Amino acid sequence: MSRLTLRAEGVTKTYGTGAVAMQALRGVDFQASEGEFVLLTGPSGSGKTTLLSALGCVLKPTSGRVMLFDEEVSAMRESDLPRLRLAYIGFIFQGHNLVASLDATQNVALPMRLRGWSTEDANREARRLLERVELGDKLERKPAELSGGQRQRVAVARAVAGAPPIVLADEPTASLDAHTGLAITELLKSLAQEGGHTVVVVTHDSRIHHLADRIVEIEDGRIVHPQSGAQA
Ligand SMILES: Nc1ncnc2c1ncn2[C@@H]1O[C@H](COP(=O)(O)OP(=O)(O)O)[C@@H](O)[C@H]1O
Ligand SMILES: [Mg+2]
Repeated sequence: MSRLTLRAEGVTKTYGTGAVAMQALRGVDFQASEGEFVLLTGPSGSGKTTLLSALGCVLKPTSGRVMLFDEEVSAMRESDLPRLRLAYIGFIFQGHNLVASLDATQNVALPMRLRGWSTEDANREARRLLERVELGDKLERKPAELSGGQRQRVAVARAVAGAPPIVLADEPTASLDAHTGLAITELLKSLAQEGGHTVVVVTHDSRIHHLADRIVEIEDGRIVHPQSGAQA
C-alpha cells in the first residue's frame, strides 16, 4: 500500500464556548495516501470545510490528532502552522481566490516565491503549469480578465505549483457550469496523478463522483460512510 500522507484520529472541533458552542466535528477518523483522489461529501453545515481546514493546518482541532506524514499538526503551536501549510499543502477554494492585482503567471508563481524560489524559476514553472492547464495564451491576464473556468484553472495550477504533497479543494466546481466543473476536476485528477499528490476535494457535485478513488461522506460532524473500520 502506498504511503499515508494525511491522517486524522478522533478529531473534534468546537467553535465558541458556553451557550453558543457549536460542535462542528464530533470525532472524525480519516486518512489518505500518496496519489489518492478522495471526495468528501455531505450536506451544508456538516463540517466539511472544518475538516478540510484541520487537515490543511488552517485550524487546530479541539481534540484528537492530525498527522501530516510523521508530523503531528495537532501537537504544534498555532504559530507553526503556516510553515507546515507552506511545506505540505496546496489549496483551492470555492470561487476564485486569486490575487486580483497579480496576473496569472504571478498568481501561480506566488506559492513558489513564498517557498523561497527565485522569481525566474518560479515564473518559468508557473508558465509551464499554465500551459499544462491550457492557459499558455493568458499568462499575463489578471483574474478579472479571465472567465470563471479559466480562473479555476489558474487556481488548480497554483495549488500544484511547487509540488506540495497534499492538495485540498473546497467546492472547487461550485461556481462553474457542469461541463466546466467536470473538466476542472479531471484536470486536477490528472495533475495529481502525474505529481503523486494526495488530493481531497469537498463537493456537492455528483457529476464528478466517478472520478474518485474513494468517497467519504460526513454528516453532522461524523463520517457516516464508509463506517469506521471499513475505510480501506
Ligand atoms: N468560525 C465559526 N464559528 C462558529 N461556527 C462555525 C464557524 N465555522 C463553521 N461553523 C459552524 O460549524 C458547522 C460546520 O461548518 P462547516 O465546516 O463550514 O460545514 P460545511 O463546509 O460542511 O458546510 C456549521 O454549523 C457552521 O455553522
Ligand atoms: Mg463548506
